[in-house]
Amino acid sequence: MRIDILTVMPEMLESPLNCSIVKRARDKGLVEIHVHNLRDYTLDKHRKVDDYPFGGEAGMVMKIQPVYDCIAKLKAEREYDEVIFMTPDGSTFDQPMANSLSMLENIIILCGHYKGVDYRIREHLVTKEISIGDYVLTGGELPAACVVDSVVRLIPGAIGDEQSALSDSFQDNLLAPPVYTRPAEYNGWKVPEILLSGHEAKILQWRLDQALERTKRLRPDLLGEGE
Ligand code: ADE
Repeated sequence: MRIDILTVMPEMLESPLNCSIVKRARDKGLVEIHVHNLRDYTLDKHRKVDDYPFGGEAGMVMKIQPVYDCIAKLKAEREYDEVIFMTPDGSTFDQPMANSLSMLENIIILCGHYKGVDYRIREHLVTKEISIGDYVLTGGELPAACVVDSVVRLIPGAIGDEQSALSDSFQDNLLAPPVYTRPAEYNGWKVPEILLSGHEAKILQWRLDQALERTKRLRPDLLGEGE
């Protein structure tokens, strides 16, 4: 998979894309991630990437030209499955969306900034608009990092134990069951007996029961209840 991220703040993406599972997946060649600084594409002599909005609203708007030129260059090099725009008014990101993005070959992610991007980019070039929730961040970089992180860990081979991506919360519309590690007792706080029993079938049943109980209690909406 190849992911191209277009941004005016490349520094904001540096550590999320160079740590942990995402770094390992890149090192293993499972994913190629390229970050493009839109300032490198502007034809403005002061390297400006934003301008005042027509109609006199407050705030600045990302200019068409650098975004258009960067996308055009990338599209001339290969075909893209999606051109994604990170924006608070997009569709809310969830696990099924992460699953389907992880199966694509090439995607572009455009990070919004300032008051947004010239709407013509969204009308003519963007194929998918994603929000990571109903709150406003200073730009699309952290949302893009969230999307990339959740997508990359689903690529086969990215996580050592592939089973563990399948047992994540939300993967089957259930929250994950509790997990514990050694010591079996700390401060008088004990790990549930069943997990120490070695009884595989019973442990599996316990995990399912716990997942159901936690989902019912914390996120009944996932079970189609309490809406
Ligand atoms: N840009 C600013 N806030 C955002 C959000 N919640 N989701 C996606 N992009 C954003």
